[in-house]
This record gives sequence, structure tokens and C-alpha cells, in this order.
Amino acid sequence: MLFMCHQMAAKKEAQEKLKAEQLRKARAVVDVPIIWILGGPGCGKGTQCAKIVEKYGFTHLSSGDLLREEVASGSDKGRELQAVMSSGGLVSNQEVLSLLNGAVSRAKGNSKGFLIDGYPREKNQGIAFEEQIAPADLALYFECSEDTMVQRILARAAAAAVKRADDNEATIRSRLQTFKQNTSAILEQYVDKTLTINAERDVDVIFTEVVDAIECVLKKRQKAVASC
Ligand code: AP5
Ligand code: MG
Repeated sequence: MLFMCHQMAAKKEAQEKLKAEQLRKARAVVDVPIIWILGGPGCGKGTQCAKIVEKYGFTHLSSGDLLREEVASGSDKGRELQAVMSSGGLVSNQEVLSLLNGAVSRAKGNSKGFLIDGYPREKNQGIAFEEQIAPADLALYFECSEDTMVQRILARAAAAAVKRADDNEATIRSRLQTFKQNTSAILEQYVDKTLTINAERDVDVIFTEVVDAIECVLKKRQKAVASC
């Protein structure tokens, strides 16, 4: 019995070592900040990312944009993705992660940092990302009421030359539902690296808090390098 316990403990230790080694290797490959941008549909993720790109020159990867590019390509896969997105549900993580992985790999040599917009949307997505791509330094969660999010999307749709296929009231409601089902689990899981920002305010006021958080990440990374 005692022998079995020792064996199990040794196996667990070996598995943990292997996992830590995989994560260490992944971090060495992507050696710039990685920031997850979270929040419901229309909360302002894309808007804040554009401002971060302008100030810091980071690479903005929106899971929604990558999926829409695949849809626009007219491929069979694109047609399947379109059906899920038009229903307001979540595309399989295999598809999303593979698109993100490809985009990170293409950009990583020249990137100053990555903004991963709209990902993770469920607990397992975060785990898969950190195992297969790299650990995230920070998650910014833009908190916003449903009414505000609906108003913002409808206003965006009204002003757009080409309206997004999922920017209609029925799909917006379904997107909100999907968001509500999954978000608290992500926030609980990543409580240590998540900053919640009130996104009901003016774009520039929100951005000052975003900048403070990014400066903090950059300082932490500098200290880590200095201590090596
Ligand atoms: P995605 O494209 O990510 O859409 P979303 O999450 O619904 O969010 P939006 O892009 O609509 O809004 P946003 O938060 O970027 O707001 P924006 O800055 O544009 O995903 C689409 C679909 O793809 C999903 O439903 C799913 O099917 C699939 N998908 C994506 N990721 C996935 C994943 N990880 N796993 C599985 N499936 C996935 O702002 C909106 C409007 O508000 C703009 O007009 C803007 O000017 C305005 N605005 C912004 N901030 C403010 C402010 N502070 N004050 C006033 N107006 C503001
Ligand atoms: Mg967006």
C-alpha cells in the first residue's frame, strides 16, 4: 500500500515537472507580454485594443476577427463557423485556438506584446491557451451592463457600411446569454491576474486604467529580467 502511494506521488511529481517544463519552454518562445481582453459583446474590447496598439505597438489578435476572416474566405470550414457565430454560440476551441496559435507564431519574432481579444470565453480555453501557446500576464475584464452593450452594438450596426452578420437583436441576446453562462467561471479561475474595469465610462477614462495595468506588467517583466 505504502509502495503504491510512493509510486503515485512520484508519478504526480513527474507530471507536474513535465507540465512546468512545457510552460517554461512556451514562455521562452513568446517572450513578450500576453494580455487577454475579456468582456461581453459590445463592451468595448476592440475599441480599447485599438488604443493599446496605438500607444504600445502591441499585436492585436481578435478571435472574432480571425473567425470572420475564415468565413470571408468562403471555405467549407468558414460556412460551418458562420452558422455557429450567427446563432450566438461558441465555435469549438480547437478551431479558435488553432487560428490564434497560427497568428501568434507568424507574429512572434516581431511583436512587442499580444492582445488576445475575446479569448478565453470559457474555462478550458484559458487552460488550453496557457498549455499550448504561453501563460498570460494579465486579463483585462471590461464590465458593462447588458443595456449598454446592446445599445452600443445597435449603434455600431446602424453606422456600419457593412453590418456584421451577428449584430441583430436576436443574435445579440444569444451572445449575451453565452457570455453570462461562461464568464464567472473564467473570472474565478484567473482571479489573480484579472483586473476588472468599469467600461460604462468614456473611452479615454477607461483607457487611463488600461495604461496603468499595462505599465505594471511591463515593470514586472523588467524586474524579472533584471533579477536574472
Ligand atoms: P467577437 O467578434 O469577439 O464579438 P463580441 O465579443 O460579441 O464583441 P464585439 O466585437 O461585438 O464588441 P467589442 O467588445 O469588441 O466592442 P467594440 O469595441 O466593437 O466574437 C464574435 C463571435 O465569434 C462570438 O459570438 C463567437 O461565436 C465567436 N467567437 C469569438 N471568440 C471566440 C472564442 N474564444 N471561442 C469560441 N467562439 C468565439 O465596441 C462596440 C461599439 O461601442 C463600437 O461602436 C464602439 O465605438 C462603441 N464603444 C466602445 N467603447 C465605448 C465607450 N466606452 N463608450 C461609448 N461607446 C463605446
Ligand atoms: Mg470586437
